[in-house]
Amino acid sequence: MSILICIPDTFEPESLSSALLSIDSNLQIEIGPENVKNPLAVEFAVVWKHPEGLLLNYPNLKAISSYGHGVDGLFSDKKLPQDVPVVRIKDETMAELMSEYLLAVVLLKRRQLLEYANNPEFSAWGTSRPHPGNQIGILGLGYLGQAAAKVFLNMGFDVAGWSRRKKQINGVNCFSETEGMIQMLNKTDYLINLLPNTTATQDLLNTQTLTQLKRGAYIINVGRGQTLVDEDLIALLDDGHLSGACLDVFRTEPLPAEHPFRKHSKVLVTPHNSSETPAESVAPQILENYRRAISGKQLLNMVDLEHGY
Ligand code: GLV
Repeated sequence: MSILICIPDTFEPESLSSALLSIDSNLQIEIGPENVKNPLAVEFAVVWKHPEGLLLNYPNLKAISSYGHGVDGLFSDKKLPQDVPVVRIKDETMAELMSEYLLAVVLLKRRQLLEYANNPEFSAWGTSRPHPGNQIGILGLGYLGQAAAKVFLNMGFDVAGWSRRKKQINGVNCFSETEGMIQMLNKTDYLINLLPNTTATQDLLNTQTLTQLKRGAYIINVGRGQTLVDEDLIALLDDGHLSGACLDVFRTEPLPAEHPFRKHSKVLVTPHNSSETPAESVAPQILENYRRAISGKQLLNMVDLEHGY
């Protein structure tokens, strides 16, 4: 019985292996995809950006875990073994990291700190810049969206959120359906996208939806690049309808050097690091799911195959 870890070297597979072994030193762990000693023994796989078809090599696989909140990369493998359940990570530390990033970006924009950095004359005594808007709109009210909503509420922001299924969250103005999204966008100063990448969310943020935002609104994309139509965002930044964007996720990652986002004065680019998977924090839930999988118990954080997240 073994656990296969197949994640990019930059995600430090050894750290995950050590974190798992520090909880249970009897675990058998294989770090792949190369040199897996005993493919027949692999019963649980933890993957991120694994090679297509790889998981067909393990006929005794009982569950597959994404090494992050998202599973779109996993489902982009057209040769995933059928009937093997897929689980994902839901981690408090990751939610804290994400909320910290979002709060930092919103405050940076609201207090116009980059404008001060770039325009020394703004700091003349007796002058003050206006503080734009107070209304946060969050697309996606899952684990990360709800955590962020709480942080913004605690900071005194007005918070609205939109989700596929309508939610009820204390203090948050919750919307669903297309009509609800338009209502939310009409009031939003800072739009945060945390939606998963599914057929329902692809290209959702386009000219039609983005123009529903208040004039001067700011976009933060930490969900997936596929949700945002790049050219439509750029056109709305250029014509002044939107005041700026902070983007952490992209259709192509790493973001190509020649992509217009790289040089746009109103776009802040970060390298998909708004939140990263901390091995020690996620090891207990991975181990719990491994134990459940090998004993045929109900898994935690199962992915809904129909909706793709
Ligand atoms: C990161 O993008 C994740 O899905 O966890």
